[in-house]
Amino acid sequence: MAAPFTRLAYQTLQQGKSLMGLAHKEVSLRLMGALAPEGAPSTVAVPPEMLQAMQASFQRLLDVDWEEAEQGIYPPSLLFDAPWLEWASRYPLVWLDLPATWNRRKQRRVDDLPTTVNRSDYPSYYLQNFHHQTDGYLSDYSASLYDLQVELLFNGTADPMRRRILKPLVWGLRAFADRPASQLRVLDVATGTGRTLRQIRAALPQARLVGLDLSDAYLRQANRWLSQLPNELPQLVQGNGEAMPFADASMQGVSCVFLMHELPAEARQNVLNDCWRVLEPGGVLVLADSVQLADSPQFRPAMENFRRMFHEPYYRDYIGDDIDARLTVAGFKAVRAESHLMTRIWTASKS
Ligand SMILES: C[S@@+](CC[C@H](N)C(=O)[O-])C[C@H]1O[C@@H](n2cnc3c(N)ncnc32)[C@H](O)[C@@H]1O
Repeated sequence: MAAPFTRLAYQTLQQGKSLMGLAHKEVSLRLMGALAPEGAPSTVAVPPEMLQAMQASFQRLLDVDWEEAEQGIYPPSLLFDAPWLEWASRYPLVWLDLPATWNRRKQRRVDDLPTTVNRSDYPSYYLQNFHHQTDGYLSDYSASLYDLQVELLFNGTADPMRRRILKPLVWGLRAFADRPASQLRVLDVATGTGRTLRQIRAALPQARLVGLDLSDAYLRQANRWLSQLPNELPQLVQGNGEAMPFADASMQGVSCVFLMHELPAEARQNVLNDCWRVLEPGGVLVLADSVQLADSPQFRPAMENFRRMFHEPYYRDYIGDDIDARLTVAGFKAVRAESHLMTRIWTASKS
């Protein structure tokens, strides 16, 4: 293990991010209660047992994150990778944006999008202010705040949870071990600002990576983040995950992180069907999304509060959905799943 990267430093960093996220949410909730009480969500009580279970899951997540770095799935430096200076400079904007968020929440306005958006370019389920965020997914401003907002929402565990796709992805690609690594194509569906692609790049330094998203603003942000990596030439494609502009059987690996819960059921199935179509036989799909009621009943209050606090119109349907069955309907075999804190990871292969 490289000398500067100690387990203690990693644990301390994550504890610090966790405290920061908790403090941010506590202060912003109190502010909303004081300044915009009409918009304040009514949340359900969180039992102490759930907090204990979460704390234990949080610690397990950090342990796995560290161990998989030690196993060489990805370099330990990835554990510390974040655009710290950019986040620090954008943090004040997160606060300045809050009143607009409260207003939308108070007025139950969920389609407050830039007037320049050509609505016919997008499916109707997409034309909303997910999480009440300003401009939905449809502006550079929204894209510039997204990563930091997710980091705060998940108390600094967004990347550790995203990284759980790496081991099944790397292992799944062993089906193509007879090919040069540089000939393997891996597609990240709904790549957003490219945080997942950045993790994948660290684990698969030679693979050809492609990111797809409906938002060109988020892809521009992804282009900025990814272009900071030496020798990276990001291939980012604007498109709908339900009908992707890629040939049948053109990818050996597909990932999709935090998309399923933002889709209505039919679109969820369409995306899984299209992931199957673009994969070559033998290829692997790794999905990551929120845990669900069936696998994590102990976190039911957290799931309920998430839905009440943020505009997540399809979340209630998603947490009761049977993703294993959907993967099977799409044609996938060997479906398996495991949970890491608030994220469930499904791995499936196309035979
Ligand atoms: C919650 S974000 C997740 C982004 C990223 N995967 C991550 O881990 O941060 C959801 C992303 O899905 C994209 N999206 C939503 N519906 C989509 C669709 N039908 N096709 C492609 N992208 C979609 C949004 O633009 C957004 O970037």
